[in-house]
Amino acid sequence: MSVYDNVLTHKGFIHKDDLNYPFEERGLQFGDGIYEVIRVYKGQYYLINEHVERLYRSAEAVKIEIPFTKKEVFNYLEELLLKNNIKTDAKVYLQITRGSAPRDHAFPLNTSANLYAYVQDLPRKMEIMRDGVAAITQPDVRWDWCYIKSLNLLPNVMAKQTASEQGCFEAILHKDGEVTECSSSNIYLVKEGKVYTHPAKKNILHGCVRMRVEHFCKEKNIPFVEEAFHVEDIQYADELFLSSSTAEVTPVVKVDGKPVSNGMVGKVTRKMQEKYEKDAEINEAASIFAKEV
Ligand SMILES: Cc1ncc(COP(=O)(O)O)c(C=O)c1O
Repeated sequence: MSVYDNVLTHKGFIHKDDLNYPFEERGLQFGDGIYEVIRVYKGQYYLINEHVERLYRSAEAVKIEIPFTKKEVFNYLEELLLKNNIKTDAKVYLQITRGSAPRDHAFPLNTSANLYAYVQDLPRKMEIMRDGVAAITQPDVRWDWCYIKSLNLLPNVMAKQTASEQGCFEAILHKDGEVTECSSSNIYLVKEGKVYTHPAKKNILHGCVRMRVEHFCKEKNIPFVEEAFHVEDIQYADELFLSSSTAEVTPVVKVDGKPVSNGMVGKVTRKMQEKYEKDAEINEAASIFAKEV
């Protein structure tokens, strides 16, 4: 997927080829930074407020001072789309690190944050959203503060790679059998018309799409139960689906080689997808439902 030329940095906009980082950089050496991935549909941000709010929450949790006000961040993000003339479906990756300094674990003095943000094309993943994906289960070996969207993603990378090697889209993570989330998405189990998901505690990422799924359930009078389910519950599930800014609402139809329920995409999942498309103002022509009819 192509990266657009104009990149936002803490020093202003530059050409992507001019991005030049010192090798003693906190993000590179310690993963000492935070990030966001923000969805763009037809040149418009989706859930930008939620992403910017989470960015500031993450920064505060790890004591990184963002060198801009929230208003400035909004304005720069808008400018990023304009400068690159974005009219299509895309994503913005935004990263902020503690800065550049001689390597030492403790925070450096007099160092200011490094920031960059760029845009990349991202067509909607229509096929997987229509047909569903397979997943595997994996132990969640991450730290206790996964609500912070930190650059330290090695456990997530390892879990996703294991899934990928087994021809699966995602790794469903669990702590002693209790399902937390996936390597790069939140996960929900549907049973007897109720949607179950891990509570938004410190040990999962509070997904921006998760917040909307909760809202969609309320609108559809579907109980949204913030109660963790277990790996062993999956065999009795009516439906399973995941959510993220890049995968939207995606059905999970197979786990550890076994079909979820009858292996077909369920009704509640379809309702969530439908609500998502309306919420993100995705037009009829780009709808998975319009294509089905
Ligand atoms: C571990 C993890 N959980 C959940 C999510 C979903 O978050 P969002 O809905 O804000 O994209 C992500 C997204 O990247 C993630 O990495």
